[in-house]
Amino acid sequence: MPVTTAPIDSAKASHPVAKPGILDIEAYKPGKSQVEGVADPLKLSANENILGSSPKAKAAYRDAVESLNVYPDSRATALRASIAQRYDLEPERLVFGCGTDELLHLINQVFLEPGDNIVQGQYAFGAYGIGAKACQAEVRSAAEPNYRIDIDLLLDLVDERTRLVFITNPANPTGTFTTQAELRNLHARLPPNVVLVIDAAYAEFCTDPAFTDGLELARNADNIIVTHTFSKLHGLAALRVGWAYAPGPIADAIDRIRAPFNVSIPGLAAAVAALADEEFQEASLNLVERWRPYFVQQLGGIGLEPVPSAANFVLVGFPKTPGKSAAEAEAYLAKRGYIVRGVANYGLPDHLRITIGLEEHNRAVVELLTEFMKA
Ligand SMILES: Cc1ncc(COP(=O)(O)O)c(C=O)c1O
Repeated sequence: MPVTTAPIDSAKASHPVAKPGILDIEAYKPGKSQVEGVADPLKLSANENILGSSPKAKAAYRDAVESLNVYPDSRATALRASIAQRYDLEPERLVFGCGTDELLHLINQVFLEPGDNIVQGQYAFGAYGIGAKACQAEVRSAAEPNYRIDIDLLLDLVDERTRLVFITNPANPTGTFTTQAELRNLHARLPPNVVLVIDAAYAEFCTDPAFTDGLELARNADNIIVTHTFSKLHGLAALRVGWAYAPGPIADAIDRIRAPFNVSIPGLAAAVAALADEEFQEASLNLVERWRPYFVQQLGGIGLEPVPSAANFVLVGFPKTPGKSAAEAEAYLAKRGYIVRGVANYGLPDHLRITIGLEEHNRAVVELLTEFMKA
């Protein structure tokens, strides 16, 4: 049966009709994981943790197999306590989701009515806009000069129908970050009825003293939500565990509409164990800190334009010249077993986003791109 958004009166239609705008939404495109004709390609396209996951988290996951017959703890009591303690947060203000992805959707649902708008940067992570459009809200994107969020340009787009402003910190796919001073400035100038959402999915990879994941601002604000994930530093992307720290009434609202058992028992157990495994977290951060500058330096030396990154990936600019383009480089790497991310769907057709891998992967990618640029 066809689902259509054609302008017909849904009450009179003879078949189900999606809400206006739904079929105009471009679905989220996950990073590729397969290449035709290549047996076992390495995926450097989804910013996953190349070290895998914490051995302690894996053990907790295995133990959880004995509980597959019961529903999870809807309150995520143990994980709530662990996160509250680790980050010095009020436990009641935490909300948990099936990945940050679900929380971002829920935040949109809680606030947006048709005709409202969200404000974001031009290269914003796709999930914000998808969720907003599903609520029939408008998505406003401010230019990002030099691949960075510009607070003034964001604020220029805020009007009386703006309900949410999204900042990814550090940002995906650019890898740049918004400083603590900039966030404070943005927050101070936002109307108090607008919610600032800080998506800190990659925050643990940024150790710059000017950086903040926003929690220090959120603690005393009525209109800041910070989201975090176990998918990146903790390497638990498969288990889908995200959390948000929100003002009490907002946490309450999100909790009312979420699915009651949205985080599984294995996910909850593994997340608690991962949070306690500082050795694994340190190894993951060290790897990124060791190889991030290597990519930037090496790729800059062969005529490419890497954007200095604060996350576990690097955005790289390619020439427009035929034979040297980003799309051709992506295909060249894929054929040789390395899948990286084309980001044309983010409005960056001349860039690729490359997740930082192990030493041998990083060296191989640099070597291949050097060959590619010389050819
Ligand atoms: C900026 C950003 N936010 C959120 C997510 C989603 O994270 P999760 O795995 O917790 O749903 C991602 C995943 O890549 C991301 O890049």
